[in-house]
Amino acid sequence: SKPLRVALLGLGTVGSGTFNVLKDNAGEIERRVGFPIEIKVIADLNTEKARELAGPGVEVVGDAFEAVKRDDIDVVVELIGGYTIAKQLVLAAIEAGKHVVTANKALLAVHGDEIFAAAEAKHVMVAFEAAVAGGIPVIKAVKEGLAANKIEYVAGIINGTCNFILSEMRDKGLPFAEVLAQAQAFGYAEADPTFDIEGVDAAHKISLLSSIAFGVPVQFEKAYIEGITKLTKEDIEFAEQLGYRVKLLGIAKRTDQGIELRVHPTLIPGKRLIANVEGVMNAVLVKANAVGPTLYYGAGAGSMPTASAVVADLIEIARASQAPLASRVPVLAFQKAGIQNLEV
Ligand code: HSE
Repeated sequence: SKPLRVALLGLGTVGSGTFNVLKDNAGEIERRVGFPIEIKVIADLNTEKARELAGPGVEVVGDAFEAVKRDDIDVVVELIGGYTIAKQLVLAAIEAGKHVVTANKALLAVHGDEIFAAAEAKHVMVAFEAAVAGGIPVIKAVKEGLAANKIEYVAGIINGTCNFILSEMRDKGLPFAEVLAQAQAFGYAEADPTFDIEGVDAAHKISLLSSIAFGVPVQFEKAYIEGITKLTKEDIEFAEQLGYRVKLLGIAKRTDQGIELRVHPTLIPGKRLIANVEGVMNAVLVKANAVGPTLYYGAGAGSMPTASAVVADLIEIARASQAPLASRVPVLAFQKAGIQNLEV
C-alpha cells in the first residue's frame, strides 16, 4: 500500500522526539503496519533549526496553516500546544479531511467535545495517547484492553513534573523552586509551569481519561483542583515518619451521584506499589469490575517517551485508515454509550 503521509506541526521537545522515533524505528514500524509512515512536511516558526533536523527530503514551512491543508497529507500531528492557534489548526485539519494526532491535553480538556464532534462529522480520527501519562499507553489500555469491564475508578500519578518535585524534595531535601527549575531544564514542565504545580495539567489528563473510562463528555470545568504549591519539606517528612508518601493524584470515580473528578495531594501508605513511583515516572491504577485492579507504569513526560505514544497513534491511524469508517471515531463511540448523570 501507499505510505501514510504526515504533517508535523511543532518541533519542540515532543516534535523532535517524534521525528527521531519515526526515523530510528522506520523498519520496525513498516514491518508492523505493512507500509511506511512518512513525514512529508514540518511546520515550525524556527525554519532554520527545523531544516537542520529534517535533512533533505522533508519540506519545512513556517506557516502551519499551509501544511494542514495540503493534498499530499493524510494526518496532521499537532505538537504546538496551547489553545488558540492549536485549536484553529486542528479544526482546519479536520475540515480538510485529515486525521489528527495531538499531545495537547489542555486543548482537548477544554475544547475536546467540539473537536471530537467535528471529527465525527468529517469521518476522521482524533488520537491523543500522548496527552495522558506521556509514554504509558493508558488510553489504549482503558479503551481496548479493559473494554469488557465496568470501570469503578481511575487514580493516577499523571504529572511527571510534580512527581519529580515531590521525589527530589523527599530524597535530597532540595527546595521546591530549585527542583522545579530542574524539571523545566529536562523538558518535563509545561510552557507555563503553573499548570503543572497547581494541578491543572493533571486535571486536564484525568478529565480525558474519565471521558474514555466512563463514556461521559470531557468535564474539566467540573474538576476539583489542588496542586502541590502549599506542600512543604516538613509535610513530606512527617508523612514519611507516619509511613506514608505524598503523591499528587488525579482521581475519577463512579459514584451514585455521577462521576467524581478531583486532583489533590494524597497520603498513600508507603508499601503500596503506586507510592513507590518516583521521579518523572507516572502510574495509573484502574479498578474495573471483571479484571480487578490493574496498574500502568512508565515515563510520564520527556521527548522520546511522549513521542512513543504519538507514533503509536500514527500506527493506529495507519492501520485503521484501511478499515471501515465506522471504526474510526473511538472517543465519540464511547461517549454515546455513556451514562447520563454528569454531576461531579
Ligand atoms: N508537564 C507534563 C508533566 C508533561 O510534567 O507531566 C507531560 O504531559
